[in-house]
Amino acid sequence: MYDGDISSVLVTEEQVREKTAELAQQVAGDYADLVRDGRESDLVLIGVLKGAVMFMTDFARALPIRPSSSSWRSAPTARRPRRRVSCGSSRTSTATSAGRHVLIVEDIIDSGLTLNWLLGNLQTRSPASLEVVTLLRKPDAVKVDVPVRYVGFDIPNEFVVGYGLDYAERYRDLPYIGTLDPSVYA
Ligand code: IMP
Ligand code: MG
Repeated sequence: MYDGDISSVLVTEEQVREKTAELAQQVAGDYADLVRDGRESDLVLIGVLKGAVMFMTDFARALPIRPSSSSWRSAPTARRPRRRVSCGSSRTSTATSAGRHVLIVEDIIDSGLTLNWLLGNLQTRSPASLEVVTLLRKPDAVKVDVPVRYVGFDIPNEFVVGYGLDYAERYRDLPYIGTLDPSVYA
């Protein structure tokens, strides 16, 4: 599949699975009070289209808590090597966040701009709490002041694809996360 396009496997399918389970356990522990008080439906998961689809699905399945709803928002822009692509303006409906414990589920944080926009947007809806779980984080994200409570893997500053992450809508279906060979977008 995609012969020669992937220069290296950064995170294997197995590593993704293990890390997802680990993050889900950590989150479950931190939100244990909600379960104890019979308020698990106060937890709302919000995924960011489209890259986070795979992680969101597997994370929600691994989570021993049943949030009331999972909703999706599209990011304002998507970053790509050497070019910027607009994701369009369509926004999926978002469950009411007021008084709810909102957990944003992200695939990857690079500059942190997407997350900043989403955090600002959701903050105006007065959630009871607002946290972020991301599978991957690049070095630049560490420099900006975005509060990310749960991080799967800190990865090098390279363009990666697979497990929901795409380049020009390709490679999302790879079961692992790999580095895209620069010849593909050169
Ligand atoms: P940020 O706003 O710079 O943090 O970028 C976040 C978004 O850009 C992610 O949610 C992805 O959709 C996309 N993105 C950033 N880096 C990569 C990458 O290496 N591969 C695929 N998509 C990426
Ligand atoms: Mg994303």
